[in-house]
Amino acid sequence: MRKPVMAGNWKMNKTRDEALQFIYAVSDKLPSNDVLDSIVCAPAIVLRDLVKRQGDSLRIGAQNMHYAASGAYTGEISPNMLVTTGVEYVILGHSERRAYFNETDETVNLKVKAALDNGLKPIVCCGESLEERENGTTHDVLTRQITLALKDISSDGLANVIIAYEPIWAIGTGKVASAEMADEACGFIRSLVKDLYCEKCADEIRILYGGSVSTKSVEELMAQPNIDGGLVGGASLNSDSFIELCNKAI
Ligand code: 13P
Repeated sequence: MRKPVMAGNWKMNKTRDEALQFIYAVSDKLPSNDVLDSIVCAPAIVLRDLVKRQGDSLRIGAQNMHYAASGAYTGEISPNMLVTTGVEYVILGHSERRAYFNETDETVNLKVKAALDNGLKPIVCCGESLEERENGTTHDVLTRQITLALKDISSDGLANVIIAYEPIWAIGTGKVASAEMADEACGFIRSLVKDLYCEKCADEIRILYGGSVSTKSVEELMAQPNIDGGLVGGASLNSDSFIELCNKAI
């Protein structure tokens, strides 16, 4: 059995005060870590503050990192710097990073390797655009993104990877993919993992759906056989809503 995951992606939201208010509001109200991995992926500047107050049932993640250990990359943050904050997870290859910050399948792969080398658990994002969905190339896009993101990653490394399927047309639009559509895509990704690795690897890897997940849609999504959790933007910003998402995920 795969342990479900509920991961909030705050994106570029919340000041330090707002982040602290959130963490105090959710502490003691989340399901035990034995039954659910509840994760908040926050802006880098508040990560250390959140880790110090995360409690037993919440884990903290970053939203991006550079793949190099150090160097002349003004404004960037390295994997080992993230490690010193105490975070456990890092989102890599989010479609917003691909669209606005020139992230490519190749850089995502370098980042996945660097994260694993540093003991961080990557949440690797993939997903098609509306145009790709409509012209029937969703499977081609997912095949390319997943194959390249996981290039040269061993099955031991894969055991620490979470994949998030986030159709771009469903992100922040209120247009949640139907549960069947989301499950079909997550099932396709699982079959890719089977082809690239092994059946056991495919059975064990956790695949999340992201894109306008809300407290209303979460239960139907979670009931799908191939969906192991959510990567949630807007609905993760409010503490009550995040608590409800986590409780409905188990
Ligand atoms: P929304 O839940 O706001 O659509 O964002 C999804 C997302 O991009 C999570 O990474």
